[in-house]
Amino acid sequence: GHQWWWEIRYPSSGASTSNEVHIPAGEKMLVRLESIDVIHDFWVPELGRKIDLVPGHPNYIWLVAGKPGVYLGACAEFCGDQHANMRIRVVAEPEAEFRKWLDGQLVIPRTPTGGIAADGAKLFQTMACMNCHTIQGTAAAARVGPDLTHLADRATIGAGVLTNTPENLSKWLSNPQRYKQGSFMPNMKLSDSEVKSIVAYLEALDEQ
Ligand code: CUA
Repeated sequence: GHQWWWEIRYPSSGASTSNEVHIPAGEKMLVRLESIDVIHDFWVPELGRKIDLVPGHPNYIWLVAGKPGVYLGACAEFCGDQHANMRIRVVAEPEAEFRKWLDGQLVIPRTPTGGIAADGAKLFQTMACMNCHTIQGTAAAARVGPDLTHLADRATIGAGVLTNTPENLSKWLSNPQRYKQGSFMPNMKLSDSEVKSIVAYLEALDEQ
């Protein structure tokens, strides 16, 4: 748990994502919950009880979805300004689809070499983006904010504040504080063409 998003790691494969937990349907998954800042609470009502994420004191929960589907949840402990925008999506898939998803998360994308996507890659490396985010296969390896390697694959932006489309990603990058005031994602005062390039870059990463 982070203020105000979820970092999700799959320790056996090394995959890392955020705000969207994929699990194989019908299988019991042991989840270890930790908080990096304040107390959060993981609650997906259809899948089980609430459980606190306490800084310095890991908790565990069995997560199991009887059948495939998308199960929505949220943080259930007041954790600051954007507590309400700390949504969870659990995507339960048949085993084969889950494996396919997991393999996809492990793909290390090539950095685009041409077009505005390449400009976006350069901006990402030279502006402050890489101080907080990871993109596998590049020098960006920080874990303050979500790993963006496979961002384009996720359903929402900002732990549920916007549906993840290129248009919404542009809006988010132009002024994240408008959609999630108090979030640690700052307004980078990007020009329209910079926003376009960075969006093209992040979208290109998942097209390979
Ligand atoms: Cu995290 Cu409320």
